[in-house]
Amino acid sequence: MNPSTPLTDEPAPRDQEGNPLFQNPEAYLELRQKSGFLGAMKVWSERRALFSCLDKLSGVKTMLDIPCGPGRAFPYYHERGFHVVGIDFSPQMSGAATAFRGKLGIPGIVCRGDAFRLPFEDNAMDTVVSVRFSYYFDRQKRIELYKELSRVSKQGFVVQVKIDYSLHSISRKLRGKNKNKDKFMQSKREIHEEFAAAGLKVRRIAPLSLLGSDRAFVLVSLN
Ligand SMILES: C[S@@+](CC[C@H](N)C(=O)[O-])C[C@H]1O[C@@H](n2cnc3c(N)ncnc32)[C@H](O)[C@@H]1O
Repeated sequence: MNPSTPLTDEPAPRDQEGNPLFQNPEAYLELRQKSGFLGAMKVWSERRALFSCLDKLSGVKTMLDIPCGPGRAFPYYHERGFHVVGIDFSPQMSGAATAFRGKLGIPGIVCRGDAFRLPFEDNAMDTVVSVRFSYYFDRQKRIELYKELSRVSKQGFVVQVKIDYSLHSISRKLRGKNKNKDKFMQSKREIHEEFAAAGLKVRRIAPLSLLGSDRAFVLVSLN
């Protein structure tokens, strides 16, 4: 398969389609990848939380990174020797991820596609990871997303969510820093309840940092 071939004829418009940041991989990476001690801490905490979920799964060989953006998380999967399939809606992002995958020498493929209509058969992947994505959508859409991820995953998957109980989240709320972003935060109870509504069971919630982040990885198994 040619990695630059769109896998969906005409991807449906989604909330994020028009975001100019997602048409500019360099600007996105500049925003996301901080240098110095702070940057190293962010990578360390993201990696630690992600692996604490992935390492609970056994026999993972093939995984889907959806949406992969410019492939920011590829080095984590490379460490585990996974065969990586990256999908992103944005041609610029999937182009950058294709180049990055080649540079790292990771086995796999990157394509354009829609997270809500994945171009795979049921159980095509050993697992799926979704970073910095689900919390852009409302509850109904998130449940739709979780059902689609569970359809293609053999043994559960990992999704990043925003939590309302880290010190970082509580302080943001108290300061009324960004009401629009804060509305996506969820309590533990809400997280369990929402995945249950998608027919899934939460196995682990791994906050990136209870001090410095409002995000957590959730490992879910298929009921
Ligand atoms: C915040 S970025 C996250 C990228 C990557 N997971 C990371 O952690 O850096 C969100 C990405 O979602 C992609 N996107 C938005 N809607 C999508 C959809 N319906 N299907 C697939 N990708 C989508 C955007 O193009 C963008 O690259």
